[in-house]
Amino acid sequence: MRVHFVTDEPEKIPAIRAVLEPRYLVVSQLLGDSATQTGAAGALLVDADLRKAAGIEQIRLIMRQQKRIPEKLFVVEKHSHHLIAQAYALGATSVVSRPREVAFRLAQIEEAAKATRAGAAIASPAITSGAAALASMFAAIRDGQPINLCDADSATSQIVDSIEQNGLSAWLEDVRRYHEGTFQHCLLVTGVAVGFALEIRFSGRDVKRLGMAATLHDIGKARIPLSILDKPGQLDPDEEAIMRRHPEIGYELLKDLPGINPDILDGVRHHHEYLDGSGYPDALKAPEISDLVRLLTISDIFAALIESRPYRPAMSRESAYKILCGMDGKLEQSLLKAFRTVALLA
Ligand SMILES: [Fe+2]
Ligand SMILES: [Fe+2]
Repeated sequence: MRVHFVTDEPEKIPAIRAVLEPRYLVVSQLLGDSATQTGAAGALLVDADLRKAAGIEQIRLIMRQQKRIPEKLFVVEKHSHHLIAQAYALGATSVVSRPREVAFRLAQIEEAAKATRAGAAIASPAITSGAAALASMFAAIRDGQPINLCDADSATSQIVDSIEQNGLSAWLEDVRRYHEGTFQHCLLVTGVAVGFALEIRFSGRDVKRLGMAATLHDIGKARIPLSILDKPGQLDPDEEAIMRRHPEIGYELLKDLPGINPDILDGVRHHHEYLDGSGYPDALKAPEISDLVRLLTISDIFAALIESRPYRPAMSRESAYKILCGMDGKLEQSLLKAFRTVALLA
């Protein structure tokens, strides 16, 4: 596979070659140089300082020139929220730290490419704009800036259009191929929730409202440390307690925004509540849990189960649906029945 490597430091070129060659053919481009012919590059790898405005402009240009390269990996310091958000805003499909992770991620991409249907595949505009909206909201929260709901609104509309046109399966497959971590999760939940709302013939307005609640449902995770958010494996009890604060944090971040819909706030705060009162943060019971929240909770759990993670394969949709059906007393049975078509066939 050919890897198009973009950097702002000449000494990084031999270093990345030492890691990736001979398995990959590395074609390098120094920021500021004119465009390099890539041929059929399988991945674009960017390792440059994303704090410098001039460099960012040049990367933007390269991203436009190389938009047909399906995989765009950015090397970013693992714990810099701002730089990770910047990478996604520029169009990254994965963020990695070097050098072992780069080689590991490229190997995954190669495997996925083998399994992918023939023909050039690029992330759909709905996926790109959904990821960019999430990236800009997460970055704003981490920087203490106001959240711009317009981005989330237009991204949600594009996701609804995409699922109406191409179906849920195509959405799930593409999101899992192009994104990972929290953004992958949010994009999957939105897709599943929208597919669910369309299946049970919600009005256009209600589809959009549920879609927006799904896009925003985990926004509180922007305040959870990445060491907990991206931990590969089980959280310890202290970490779990911090993680469980995200619905309330999300509610607090959104509640005073002008024009925010109360149903969306309800979804953000209560998507981890269960009908039997065993959920959090308010231990609500069935009569206090709205229909929108019930739909969102089912979509959230299903999406979490079918996510692909670097350390484990995605669970099949059949197995995920079986797990939902086994959650006795927590989820509404009649909705779960209606969800069967969405889970297995849509
Ligand atoms: Fe959540
Ligand atoms: Fe979630």
